[in-house]
Amino acid sequence: MLNAALAGKFYTQVVKARLLAALLLVMPPVFAQSGAVLFQQNCSFCHGENGQGRAGAFPPLAGHAPNVIATPEGRAYLIQVLLFGLQGEIKVRGQKYNGVMAAFGQLSNEQVAAILNHVLTAWGNDKLLAKDHKPITAAEVAAVRIAKLTPQEVAARRSRLKLE
Ligand code: HEC
Repeated sequence: MLNAALAGKFYTQVVKARLLAALLLVMPPVFAQSGAVLFQQNCSFCHGENGQGRAGAFPPLAGHAPNVIATPEGRAYLIQVLLFGLQGEIKVRGQKYNGVMAAFGQLSNEQVAAILNHVLTAWGNDKLLAKDHKPITAAEVAAVRIAKLTPQEVAARRSRLKLE
């Protein structure tokens, strides 16, 4: 009796360990698609690990991205910056930037959405979002991708947002 019970317990442990091993095998690709990892791989070099940017060179995204999306065309604009790049003078909290950001159009719609959703919710940005904020979807990115823009045209869209 006791032996059978012990064997049963042992069997359960083995099954659990196997399930965990199987899960770990599936995990890495899923994790690699996470917005945090994609941000780290593609954006943090310039915008900083914590989205803090560098004054005069790379605009901050922390404490700023929610202000962009709060404008009527800000949602599409954020997607356009990633898909088509940005070149032209912009002002973020009174500080001028006149650099170039390359396009990240090679990323999938899902990846672009994941990165932007990370940017909009990390570093306390989630607290600055509108109550009715909805995450950016891959379908939205796909729709914006159709109308190709140059980095200069994206800058023109930026000036329409009237952000200072
Ligand atoms: C090589 C440096 C570099 C990398 C990498 C980079 N950016 Fe940028 N980013 C910039 C610069 C420079 C600007 C400002 C361009 C200008 O002055 O016109 C900018 C502007 C932006 C803006 C517009 C801010 C505003 O107020 O209009 C957003 C949003 C943004 N970047 C997000 C990202 C995200 C997300 C990634 C990763 C996918 C990324 N950037 C990767 C350099 C970079």
